[in-house]
Amino acid sequence: MQFTHPALTPHRIGVVELKNRLAVAPMSRVSAAPDGTPTDEMTYYYQDFARGGWGLVITEGTYTDTAHSQGYLNQPGLASDTHVTGWRRVTDAVHAEGSPIVAQLMHAGALSQGNPRGVGTIAPSAVTPRGEMLEEYGGSGRWPTPRAMSMGDIDSVVIGFVDAAARAQAAGFDGVEIHAANGYLLDQFLTVYTNRRDDIYGGTVANRIRLTCRIVADIRARVPSHFLVGVRLSQTKVNDFTYRWPGGASDAEVIFAGLAEAGADYLHIASEGRDFIDTARLPDGRTITAVARAASGLPVMANGGMHDLRQASDVLDGGHADLVSLGRGALANPDLPARVAAGADLNAFDHAMLSPMATIANARAWSLAHK
Ligand SMILES: Cc1cc2nc3c(=O)[nH]c(=O)nc-3n(C[C@H](O)[C@H](O)[C@H](O)COP(=O)(O)O)c2cc1C
Repeated sequence: MQFTHPALTPHRIGVVELKNRLAVAPMSRVSAAPDGTPTDEMTYYYQDFARGGWGLVITEGTYTDTAHSQGYLNQPGLASDTHVTGWRRVTDAVHAEGSPIVAQLMHAGALSQGNPRGVGTIAPSAVTPRGEMLEEYGGSGRWPTPRAMSMGDIDSVVIGFVDAAARAQAAGFDGVEIHAANGYLLDQFLTVYTNRRDDIYGGTVANRIRLTCRIVADIRARVPSHFLVGVRLSQTKVNDFTYRWPGGASDAEVIFAGLAEAGADYLHIASEGRDFIDTARLPDGRTITAVARAASGLPVMANGGMHDLRQASDVLDGGHADLVSLGRGALANPDLPARVAAGADLNAFDHAMLSPMATIANARAWSLAHK
């Protein structure tokens, strides 16, 4: 028997046709080779989602340059020709199963906890990050205090993102998603307490989103128009679940309109550490994703606890978003779209899947033990 759910209807981002509105959310799996090259294990991992019928697969955060961008040991990169060759195997396998795939491009900034180059961390300002390193990705203790970025550092970061996007295209990806969420470098620029700059990249919200807009515009100018350029944003962070954009909806409108003007194809709103309902409601009562749709005119993807299929259906039917992405629900159910279509039960996510580290090998061992 077939079940209907609004997430099972097709949609389009740019010229890319999605067979449903379910996306695999970006999830770091710290399972690449030590030099950042994707492995066969990663190819099977991503292929499994495509086989499960996801409308879109978004990769884990992938570092952009061979300087400061890497966040974790065994994180994959898009910073060399070897990386391109490794990712090509992944994109071919995913395409063979019928899903488009987008690479999430990430610069860790002050939240880098594993960069074998030993170059120290950089950030908009020399502010010690809140909280502690993430043990699931191999860190422990406080993050170091970063060095404040010069204008030359900013130019290098932009070049890193643009070159990584060009490599993503060479590797066969359908697009890139700029990681401007969850407390990493671009979110450090957007966040008032980590950005104390008094130049064109600090102060007003228009200035704090300027670097992300510049990266989007420069990538757009470099890649063909069919290649997607999305942006992921969040109010919350891996090291701060309580932060909210200080200007509420008026900040949100500046951010979303600016990114649309820069040439973004879609916006992806994450809610790190919290479910959508906890973080989506702005002080004026609207949801952040509904404001994103209105201010940008772009397809908007909502994230956070969407394995609650009732919530996913309310978000889509209520006009709050065009698509939903799932992280933990996808890990527990790589075949979730097929299950939803069949009306089958979903497996519950168990945090032990990511323990002691969030590697693919640990999740596989968990699955075998719970068969
Ligand atoms: C193991 C794991 C790794 C993650 N890595 C990333 C990442 O690389 N980039 C990112 O933007 N979000 C990352 N996230 C956050 C997820 O994309 C998602 O926002 C979060 O899990 C909430 O969605 P969910 O309720 O569907 O799990 C990660 C989450 C998990 C569980």
